Amino acid sequence: MVQDRIVTSSRRVDDDQQLEVGLRPQTLQEFVGQEKIKEKLAIYIEAARERQEPLDHVLLYGPPGLGKTTLAHIIAREMGVNIRVTSGPAIERPGDLAALLTNLNRGDVLFIDEIHRLPRLVEEILYPAMEDFALDIIIGKGPGARSLRLDLPPFTLIGATVRAGVLSSPLRDRFGVVSRMEFYTVPELEAIISRAARLLQVELEPEGAREIAQASRGTPRIANRLLKRVRDYAQIRAGNVITGPVAREALQMLELDRLGLDEIDRRLLATVIDKFQGGPVGLDTLAAAINEEPETLEDVYEPYLMKLGFLKRTPRGRVVTGQAYKYLGRSEGPAQDPQPRLF
Ligand SMILES: Nc1ncnc2c1ncn2[C@@H]1O[C@H](COP(=O)(O)OP(=O)(O)OP(=O)(O)O)[C@@H](O)[C@H]1O
Ligand SMILES: [Mg+2]
Repeated sequence: MVQDRIVTSSRRVDDDQQLEVGLRPQTLQEFVGQEKIKEKLAIYIEAARERQEPLDHVLLYGPPGLGKTTLAHIIAREMGVNIRVTSGPAIERPGDLAALLTNLNRGDVLFIDEIHRLPRLVEEILYPAMEDFALDIIIGKGPGARSLRLDLPPFTLIGATVRAGVLSSPLRDRFGVVSRMEFYTVPELEAIISRAARLLQVELEPEGAREIAQASRGTPRIANRLLKRVRDYAQIRAGNVITGPVAREALQMLELDRLGLDEIDRRLLATVIDKFQGGPVGLDTLAAAINEEPETLEDVYEPYLMKLGFLKRTPRGRVVTGQAYKYLGRSEGPAQDPQPRLF
């Protein structure tokens, strides 16, 4: 599909990736929002530094683009240690993880993105590594096999995942700090966008920042990406200044509405309403009906729709709320009994 995807193009566009690295805040202080997490981390970091010990293992979870990777880098920087970056699917065999771990220096951070996608065998050797800073290696096969214990330098594991619920509980339980990243408020996003505009040397009026913030789905990555597109529009059509009306026009051109919903969000809601009488409808059925991956719906689209109160997850499936009907300008049809009756 040749569509300009604002919401889901997270890891696909090199250009955007460069932009992201450039705009990444470097210190906890520069990091906007997530106040509770920042407060906790600041204390734990200071305490660990004072004791000259590595920080406890940290698990960060939440929808894409909320700053998990950014925060992992900040933690390493504030601890004054190196960070090694990898991801669950990249560590295919136990040996890959062993190589990473044995190359760490005392106190270093190992950041594993998408940690829920670690292969089971790899996950199992991670347990003693996290708990006792030791690797249990099996040498040989069959009855002659013996197990060897290798000491590791104490380190901090930072794991990131979209949902804590998809982690096995033995893994989740081995993190001392478990933090859920929240969607950002509009004022927080305005601050993020204004900072990015300064770094990109874009002239941005407060009303323009507010328009972009409102359409950013509570997500800094989307905010930065929108700013970039709006900047292009301002440069070509509007004398290089992002005013409120200029931002609005540019966002309309991207087919985003005032809440930042895109074509897929609207299709999702409309499908539940039109084809499934408002729900409940199972995730897989819904995904097939709108031709998207169930994981994409679950991890990328649904969290924001639920945050808006437009969609609910129930044990029997997804249900669209009255608020969504109102927003889409639909009238709620006659209440349907979702369960066919026998009598
Ligand atoms: N609190 C923040 N303040 C300012 N900018 C932020 C903040 N959080 C994130 N950003 C910006 O948003 C971009 C995306 O953040 P990041 O890559 O850390 O998200 P993520 O949670 O790791 O996403 P994913 O789940 O897709 O890996 C960053 O490059 C950064 O520029
Ligand atoms: Mg990330």
